[in-house]
Amino acid sequence: DQTPLVIFTPSGKRGHFPVGTPILTAARQLGVDLDSVCGGRGICSKCQIAPAYGDFPKHGVTVRDGALSDWNEVEARYDRVRGLKKGRRLGCQAKVEGDIVVDVPPESQVHKQVVRKAASTKPIVMDPATKLVMIDVVEPDMHSPSGDLERVADALQAQWDIGPVTARLPVLKALQPALRKGKWQVSVAVHTPAGSDTSQILGVWPGFHEGGLYGLAVDLGSTTIAAHLCDLSDGRVLASSGLMNPQIRFGEDLMSRVSYVMMNPGGDAEMTAAVQEALNTLAVDIATEAGIDPALIFETVIVCNPVMHHLLLGIDPVELGQAPFALATSGSLTLDARDIGLSDIAPTAQLYLLPCIAGHVGADAAAVALAEEPNTSQDLALIVDVGTNAEILLGDTNGVLACSSPTGPAFEGAQISAGQRAAPGAIERIEIDPVTKEPRFRVIGVDAWSDDADFPADTQITGICGSGIIEAVAEMRMAGLLDASGLIGSAEATGTARCEPTGRTHAYLIHDATATGGPRVTVTQGDIRAIQLAKSALYAGARLLMDQRGVTKVDRVVLAGAFGAHISPKHAMVLGMIPDVPLDKVQSAGNAAGHGARIALCNRAARTSIEAIVRDIHKVETAVEPRFQEHFVNANAIPHATDPFPELAQ
Ligand code: FES
Repeated sequence: DQTPLVIFTPSGKRGHFPVGTPILTAARQLGVDLDSVCGGRGICSKCQIAPAYGDFPKHGVTVRDGALSDWNEVEARYDRVRGLKKGRRLGCQAKVEGDIVVDVPPESQVHKQVVRKAASTKPIVMDPATKLVMIDVVEPDMHSPSGDLERVADALQAQWDIGPVTARLPVLKALQPALRKGKWQVSVAVHTPAGSDTSQILGVWPGFHEGGLYGLAVDLGSTTIAAHLCDLSDGRVLASSGLMNPQIRFGEDLMSRVSYVMMNPGGDAEMTAAVQEALNTLAVDIATEAGIDPALIFETVIVCNPVMHHLLLGIDPVELGQAPFALATSGSLTLDARDIGLSDIAPTAQLYLLPCIAGHVGADAAAVALAEEPNTSQDLALIVDVGTNAEILLGDTNGVLACSSPTGPAFEGAQISAGQRAAPGAIERIEIDPVTKEPRFRVIGVDAWSDDADFPADTQITGICGSGIIEAVAEMRMAGLLDASGLIGSAEATGTARCEPTGRTHAYLIHDATATGGPRVTVTQGDIRAIQLAKSALYAGARLLMDQRGVTKVDRVVLAGAFGAHISPKHAMVLGMIPDVPLDKVQSAGNAAGHGARIALCNRAARTSIEAIVRDIHKVETAVEPRFQEHFVNANAIPHATDPFPELAQ
């Protein structure tokens, strides 16, 4: 073939093209992943490429100067106005003149991978349901009397292979002025749900829309709501924010909120309004923090447990409070975001809710499954997402089981005498000397360990957070201040005056901050009982899944959740929160539910995939399993009444 050879890296795809072929055209014909929003108009710069010159023995070519056309007026103007990085060309403007090797940098790939924060988190491949494209629309005339929307639909079909499309009233209202202002060239945001061939136009702008498209991934927990604002073109998180779930005032845990509805007619509507308003406020706040217009948020993905799911949607959750725990729907949902009160983001914004696994195992657990993919694990993985309710998954390539367990809010620092959220001033790590019984600790916001005796007097300690209380209880057990049943010893029995009498029980003093106006941070017998109840529920749930699977050991444990990330594996095991495994087989997955929400936000194929995974998950109902109670009682001891913990002896 006499026509020039074009080789793309890193894909290695190659082909011969006539002189004068734009690189973007060559890329499309070869199926090379090269992005474009403006459709080759030299406006969006998404098609940037890096041509390489010299000898390439590996590819069998020599690339000479002049292998690409000189800069044309469009490319030169882009460089003048916006600036192109050195060595970069616009793939839609640069044309083939001779044999050439073209590198497609990661940011120019359509299915680019979002940079991972931690090696353990699954990478996200960009393929959002909502995309921005630019089109040239045929002007109307007396001979072709079709409407503007119909001609926009024709342009989307012809120029982007998108169709058929629909548009709601806010878009129809904006369409005519945008087309005329843009001189029949407009940018449109097009939403195509997973598995659908019908799309909806969510937004329209004259000319090229510079403002971008954004999405919100929300982990709606019973205690806290956490959100990430993502750029839908590259998946970057622009801002993260959170707030307390305002439904707490109706009941701290899920069942107390369901009871509130049972006892107070209309109570569900109150809780729905509270959470919807909080979400809307959060969306506006997070957009403001990132410096973007909230009206440019076109997609939201929310993951939550079934009770939160129903209350968010305004569905009475009473059925979820009693067997057989029937959900209104367990399927995924794509809705208009304004239907759940998100009134200050784009009026056409879409909401995707992941499927629920069962009436007691929600979309948050599905999101964890999406992020952690136990279904592809070669070894048997136990994944626990620790919150007010623990979501537990056990599985490998042979199948996945799931349950949830009502741990209560103790792990989040609630129901603990000196408990507080993980915030500056909270004790987050503790060691207790087994001989002197004196504590050392780390406080959030203070960058060093400190003995209690020399803790700087000018630094205020405000309480103890969830990870701190777990370490405190485990350390007390290891230092002999606590027996296996969870009873705190007296000063005489333990040999330390820190074990103070409080009525008929005792409390261990960690730090007395009263001199500086702070609290006396103690671990009381009540605190120990609250932690025992929480950890027993967690362990019993895990054991129930192990029973169903017919195993007494797992290969690895993944601690998920914002809180899971801060738990020390050793202390979790001393406490008997998780079954015995080698300590190096306990990993932390950070906020896996939130990460799963981000995956579903940025990649619509992931939505299809989690819907299929969820269908195959075997659900176990802790509330009606008689063995749960038995496991729960045995797990009350620290670490356990009957199960062995050989790894702890190491
Ligand atoms: Fe938009 Fe090249 S495709 S600048």
